[in-house]
Amino acid sequence: MLIRKAADIRPSEITSERNYLNRRDFMRAGAIAGGTLLTSGAMSAVVPDTRLAKLANVSKSAHSTNEAPNSFEDISTYNNFYEFGLNKDDPFENAQDFRTRPWTIEVDGHAEKTGTFDFDDFVKPFDLEERIYRMRCVEAWSMVIPWVGISLADVVKHFKPSSKAQYVAFETLNDREQMPGVRGRALDWPYREGLTIAEATNPLPILAVGIYGNVIPNQNGAPIRLVVPWKYGFKGIKSIVKISFTSRRPKTSWNMAIPGEYGFYANVNPEVNHPRWSQARERRIGAGLFASKQETLMFNGYGEQVAHLYKDLNLRRNY
Ligand code: MTE
Repeated sequence: MLIRKAADIRPSEITSERNYLNRRDFMRAGAIAGGTLLTSGAMSAVVPDTRLAKLANVSKSAHSTNEAPNSFEDISTYNNFYEFGLNKDDPFENAQDFRTRPWTIEVDGHAEKTGTFDFDDFVKPFDLEERIYRMRCVEAWSMVIPWVGISLADVVKHFKPSSKAQYVAFETLNDREQMPGVRGRALDWPYREGLTIAEATNPLPILAVGIYGNVIPNQNGAPIRLVVPWKYGFKGIKSIVKISFTSRRPKTSWNMAIPGEYGFYANVNPEVNHPRWSQARERRIGAGLFASKQETLMFNGYGEQVAHLYKDLNLRRNY
């Protein structure tokens, strides 16, 4: 990323006490909302303008890790979402009024079913699952996040891509009014990401709509964002408004911005260092300032499920 020198410092250590206390108030409000707003039917839980409502009918997944998840505070205040600013606590500060309703997702390209879908209609056909995944940022920090989401493989199959569809491309909302970062030139907006069709139909990737059983906070990519646990976090594009089935490899934001540092695949790989730092180890957010870094695992520890996708690929060149 552009890389903030203080990337490892938790927001509670770098923000004023006033802001930190505001954050605490917000967390308390979220906890109350989450505890009381029970609704029925999977996505009917996602009520317009109801922040952090509880999601109903969420099943557990065998894909979840047993590792202890990070606190909700860590997950929702230490973020990368450049549309809302470059500092780790900017997305929390600047995304609170972000409007995630009405929200539509356009699906186009080489698929039988295409069109523009209202968010709730888009999600309704699919089962909600809790997936507790490790997330490894390319900046060498990591978290464990209890997402709630729908299987990307199920979504892809639902739209019936043709044999011409070799890739799935994603785009984030590009709104200068609501997103202060988009008025700057940190990236060529909209934020773009992509996967091969084989990656997108692997059982692990999800489109996340929740965290800790509740609706996903704005700063984490509301109302819907991609999670691909064996890849660096920047592949996890937030606040998706467009999904395209393409025959050509789509352009992706960080690869376009700094091609010598960020590739299309971006698989977590402790043996291939970033040109400016080692990828061998990572700092687990929340572990404490004096905790030693832990070893980074190949494919972020998900090799059993995904290594076969890359058996013919030189992982040093196609980083
Ligand atoms: N998506 C958009 N649209 N804009 C961004 O700046 N940052 C990426 C990814 N998705 C980003 C984005 C990066 S670098 C990371 S590490 C993850 O989001 C962070 O997700 P989190 O804030 O939920 O932990």
